[in-house]
Amino acid sequence: MPLIFVNDAFVSITGYEKEEVYGKNCRFLQNDDRNQETVYKVREAIKNKEYCEIELRNYKKDGTLFYNLLSLSPIFDSHGELTYYIGIQNDITKLKQQNELYFQQKRAESLTNLIKNLSHQWRQPLSLISTLSGSIQLKNEVGLLSNDDLVEHTTRIISTTQYLSNILTDFDGFLINDNRENFKLSEIINDEMKILKDINFIVEFDSNLEISSYKNILQICISGLLSNCKDAFGIEDNKLIVMDCIKSKDEIIITIKDNSSGVNENIIENIFDPYFTTKHQTQGTGLGLYLIQVFLQNIGGSIIVKNGKFIYDNKEHIGAIATITLFNEI
Ligand SMILES: Nc1ncnc2c1ncn2[C@@H]1O[C@H](COP(=O)(O)OP(=O)(O)OP(=O)(O)O)[C@@H](O)[C@H]1O
Ligand SMILES: [Mg+2]
Repeated sequence: MPLIFVNDAFVSITGYEKEEVYGKNCRFLQNDDRNQETVYKVREAIKNKEYCEIELRNYKKDGTLFYNLLSLSPIFDSHGELTYYIGIQNDITKLKQQNELYFQQKRAESLTNLIKNLSHQWRQPLSLISTLSGSIQLKNEVGLLSNDDLVEHTTRIISTTQYLSNILTDFDGFLINDNRENFKLSEIINDEMKILKDINFIVEFDSNLEISSYKNILQICISGLLSNCKDAFGIEDNKLIVMDCIKSKDEIIITIKDNSSGVNENIIENIFDPYFTTKHQTQGTGLGLYLIQVFLQNIGGSIIVKNGKFIYDNKEHIGAIATITLFNEI
């Protein structure tokens, strides 16, 4: 499919002169960056003589990257034969940068709120640690410190510091600098597989499925959801987690289902509240789902958690179903 005509706008976007490009296939604009998922869409559309609209990473003559929102329309002659394709290129690099900036600002905003919230939340455990240590010192000075006192107080100090440390771990998602990229969803869950050893973890999507999103943030969210499933199982349960992903033009939908008893209906309204947990303070801070929701909002996504039924291996299972939606904004 050689180029037979380009207009002046093409010249000003790409920096190539018309004569330089005539006769060439427009894939030369990809340089060596050929392994783009969207290219397959073009091939598919051309094969089926269909219209398509895609986003490509293209390169100007001087090597600068630009994001090209390209629409391709087939033109048929009077016999219905496909004769030409008309392509309209749109340099959306600036728009993408603005988008990126918007997300950074939103992240900074939610970070400010969280720090306010965090400092408030730290006061009580810190004062507990200080009171317990003070009490040990005082009792020791007056010779009334029993062995039982010492063990009890230090145990509480250790569990409280563990709690504070858990809170910090939950905040990891704010400390990483993430960018939108194309990656295989299966890469995210490779590490999780190892942690979920004694659980039948079924991945229903294709291991080659590629998505465009914020890999590190998404990994944190998925890891948080999987550990919630893990925590929900009783020792005797026949533990099953089923993860799937469906990709469409506008959105990516990831589901994580488990066959534990599901979320208690009395508390299901509250599970996204910060610091809401049904676990012991050394095991859960209750920030998990709250932060997952904030992170996903920051990358143009959302999450819901419901109880429901699902079929796996011809059997019906009941449990919690978490659904992440990631919107494919340009
Ligand atoms: N898959 C699930 N099955 C059953 N209950 C769940 C599930 N996921 C979440 N929950 C309930 O929602 C509560 C809140 O979850 P969230 O992830 O916010 O906090 P957490 O897991 O308790 O603590 P952490 O901050 O360590 O994540 C949990 O304590 C649990 O009661
Ligand atoms: Mg959790």
